[in-house]
Amino acid sequence: MENQEQHIDADRHTHSAPMRRVTTRRLQDMKKQGKRISCLTAYDALIARILDEAGIDLILVGDSLGNIVQGHETTIPVTLDDIIYHTKAVVRGVQRALVVADMPFMSYQVSPEEAFRNAGRLMKEAGASAVKVEGGHRVCEAVRRMTEAGIPVMAHLGLTPQSINQFGSYRARGQNAEEAEEMMRDAKELEQAGAFAVVLEKIPMELALKITESISIPTIGIGAGPHCDGQILVYSDMIGLTIDFSPRFVRRYDSLHERVNDSVSRYIQDIQSGNFPDESESY
Ligand code: KIV
Repeated sequence: MENQEQHIDADRHTHSAPMRRVTTRRLQDMKKQGKRISCLTAYDALIARILDEAGIDLILVGDSLGNIVQGHETTIPVTLDDIIYHTKAVVRGVQRALVVADMPFMSYQVSPEEAFRNAGRLMKEAGASAVKVEGGHRVCEAVRRMTEAGIPVMAHLGLTPQSINQFGSYRARGQNAEEAEEMMRDAKELEQAGAFAVVLEKIPMELALKITESISIPTIGIGAGPHCDGQILVYSDMIGLTIDFSPRFVRRYDSLHERVNDSVSRYIQDIQSGNFPDESESY
């Protein structure tokens, strides 16, 4: 593995510093070394490149693109072809981060064989380095099928948005003993099935801590408190491009919705007043 990483490093030499691609192995080493893993979603090359240049470790082409890019209310309508299209774009923008493609609803639930075939498309056609699936015990056979064939799989427990029609709400999960025990069992089973990491979404931080201490693969939290091995947010929430979604776990580092709105308003005014373009902006 080390040799393979060195080989990739050699290929990635730029005129500045040598670029070491993030691998699933490296994320697992980070857990062992107590180094926190930074993750964000992205859906296009432009944003992916900015996140990558800033040094993000993992970029998820999340099926949240259904909400963020496509304007749907849920992630259910997102298709495998949608994820392939956006993953191709993200991969073109990234040099260092690990790119993980989300497997959309109904692309892995029918059978382990179908999950394997679809994950293969995300790797071969789209260029993803890993895939992500939602669920515990019920997806373990599919996780095993994919990992045994060399496809790294990230799991996702807690609030799993593809099951919204089953649960009926986006409330926090794992808040009673029964749910918490089931989630702990699921996390261990997913690790045994070969998952390289597990996303924990919207669960109590004490439960996230217990899971993090009980498994050797990294936990990546979103609304799961500070004790996970890494954190992930939807990039457009984090920079304040979205304004209509503000659960307490989203920390906004900017208010881009407001700033873009202001820029566009000034652009419109400049056009209307004849102030744009001026001589220096003309030929
Ligand atoms: O689709 C997505 O963006 C996700 C993250 C929120 C973990 O699954």
